[in-house]
Amino acid sequence: MKNHSAAVIGLGYWGPNVLRNVIDVDKFDDIYCHDLDISKIDKCKRRFTSIKPVSSYENILNNDDINCVFICTPLSTHYQLAKDALLNGKNVLIEKPMTSTVEEAKELIDISNKKSLKLMVGHTFEFSPPVEKIKEIIQNGMLGDIYFISMTRINLGIHRKDVSVIGDLATHDLSILFRLIEEEPYSISAVSNSFVKNKLKDVAFINLRYKSGTIVNINVSWLSPKKIRETIIVGSKKMLIYDDTKSDEKIKIFDRGVDVLKDPDSFGEYQLTYRTGDIISPVLEATEPLKIEISHFIDCVNNGLKPKTDGYCGLKVVRFLEAAEKSSDRGGEVIIINGAK
Ligand SMILES: NC(=O)c1ccc[n+]([C@@H]2O[C@H](COP(=O)([O-])OP(=O)(O)OC[C@H]3O[C@@H](n4cnc5c(N)ncnc54)[C@H](O)[C@@H]3O)[C@@H](O)[C@H]2O)c1
Repeated sequence: MKNHSAAVIGLGYWGPNVLRNVIDVDKFDDIYCHDLDISKIDKCKRRFTSIKPVSSYENILNNDDINCVFICTPLSTHYQLAKDALLNGKNVLIEKPMTSTVEEAKELIDISNKKSLKLMVGHTFEFSPPVEKIKEIIQNGMLGDIYFISMTRINLGIHRKDVSVIGDLATHDLSILFRLIEEEPYSISAVSNSFVKNKLKDVAFINLRYKSGTIVNINVSWLSPKKIRETIIVGSKKMLIYDDTKSDEKIKIFDRGVDVLKDPDSFGEYQLTYRTGDIISPVLEATEPLKIEISHFIDCVNNGLKPKTDGYCGLKVVRFLEAAEKSSDRGGEVIIINGAK
């Protein structure tokens, strides 16, 4: 079905990736594009000749043919651009993180609910085949009880101007974590520092705790000699490594662990037996996560479905980001999350 048009706002680094996929899914009559920087529009027009450049956002808001707006601008602009789009009757896919504050996120959800419009957040990793596979592996009990998860997302740069490394990079890990584990963490603490700029934190170590006993560490940084995108999950039965920098074998499951056995020769003593078994790497679908995400959004708009990463998912991540910032501003104070949606 092709009977509406779309608009992509912001054509810097990420916007052209979104635009390429919006074109590829081939569900819109016309695709309009806007950026405050005209050179970005010109560059995209040379690459994607079918797009329709628009010089002002108002023209997009006032165009009744456009029913979907993809917002790929810096975080500080998300709230206002999304609000204007929703108030003008557009369904919105907003890049991550959804907004700078919890209040802004709540307001966008409220407007989208009142106007019966779709509001989705670009938590791209929630659409990635490895994350889907890990969720399946955890749910079918292969790893056993989850003892801990260690997530590392570090590389050199790019220092953003309007968001700290917590909002920029930990957003990915929090959204992955919330997709993998349904239970909500009850506390968060973080230590961070800004070594390069005065205000914006460029290194952070974030800790989360769950009532079930699971503990999680998220290490994010724009200052690292090596690019690492790794999640290690240790369970009572098996262990798993997810390395997103690998082109294949992104997930490896290790039949490794420690068994605690009662020592038959001495009363009350226990023996630890270290188990080292097979390593397996599940086959994964090769589709680009962003393509899955964009197709899903359009499907939700066309067929009245609830987006997998709806406004509430975006709000949950923003809530934990806000708490992590607060904790690190207070020297690592443990913040108890009240669990209210
Ligand atoms: N989902 C992902 O995996 C992923 C990856 C990278 C970036 N992102 C997100 O995408 C967004 C953009 O990131 P980026 O790296 O492309 O940033 P960028 O700075 O490279 O590009 C942003 C573009 O938006 C334009 N812009 C700024 N304000 C505008 C406005 N009011 N109206 C129209 N255009 C405006 C700028 O001129 C620039 O071209 C951010 O929210 C970021 O977090 C998501």
